Amino acid sequence: MTQTNADQIAYWNGDVGRRWAAQQTRLDAMLSPLSEAALRAAAAKPGEHVLDIGCGCGDTSIKLAETVTATGRVLGADISAPMLALAKKRASAPNIAFSEADAASHRFEPHAFDLLFSRFGVMFFANPDEAFANMRQALKQTGRVAFVCWRDWRENEWVRVPIMAVRPHVPPQPQLGPEDPGPFAFADPARIRRIMASGGFDAITLKPFDAQVEIGNTLDDAVAYLQEFGPISRALTDASPAQKQQAAAALREALTPHAKTTPIKLGAAVWLVTARA
Ligand SMILES: C[S@@+](CC[C@H](N)C(=O)[O-])C[C@H]1O[C@@H](n2cnc3c(N)ncnc32)[C@H](O)[C@@H]1O
Repeated sequence: MTQTNADQIAYWNGDVGRRWAAQQTRLDAMLSPLSEAALRAAAAKPGEHVLDIGCGCGDTSIKLAETVTATGRVLGADISAPMLALAKKRASAPNIAFSEADAASHRFEPHAFDLLFSRFGVMFFANPDEAFANMRQALKQTGRVAFVCWRDWRENEWVRVPIMAVRPHVPPQPQLGPEDPGPFAFADPARIRRIMASGGFDAITLKPFDAQVEIGNTLDDAVAYLQEFGPISRALTDASPAQKQQAAAALREALTPHAKTTPIKLGAAVWLVTARA
């Protein structure tokens, strides 16, 4: 399957972007242990200038703006108008700005940033080598990168358990190649290293990080939530109403053993990636 960034721009400006904006509070809560780990790895300091790539609804941009204080600044860049609209509404600090920009090709202010940060926003480039080379131009010579991306979907219980449950009930899914843009495009550590090195970065480090993430307060809640966004919603896109009903029943059954305590949590597995410009 070949894709261009135009496909991703359409994707994140359509139903998916609107659903992310609608679920922002829950998504931020779910991602918070992973976010905190990524922000720790980034170690932003007062006075620094930060570029938050694929900033979405602005959660990490807002946190970074607090950390860099009024002497620093944060620019959140994203291609999704509905997600950026919410980000702008949420962020009131004077040291934060947002830009609707394709990070792969946008001409950011050259050598202006100390830190390039991303929470799950760098796996969607049609040509990641070019995208990282472009983003590096925005960093000072002393600049650094810190981002978090998903490891393989099979290592992510929050994806594996629901996907294995719904798969028998939905139409066959198009097979994404391991290098096609998508949430799991950076699962392979060798690929991340190759892309970063090709983009001109060095001192590249990858640390695996695991956490339990909240997917719902009740079984009903978790079933509804997982159908709304991410890999499960993609799998349900072309399903008939009957198939959707069967998939929801299978999802509920698969989640039942995990619902003995609330909130319901499942395992998540990510890479924390850092590098120097
Ligand atoms: C999985 S979401 C993560 C959003 C946000 N960082 C968060 O954690 O809530 C991926 C984000 O990357 C953005 N994105 C995808 N391709 C992009 C590109 N070429 N340039 C900038 N942003 C992009 C999407 O619009 C989306 O907001």
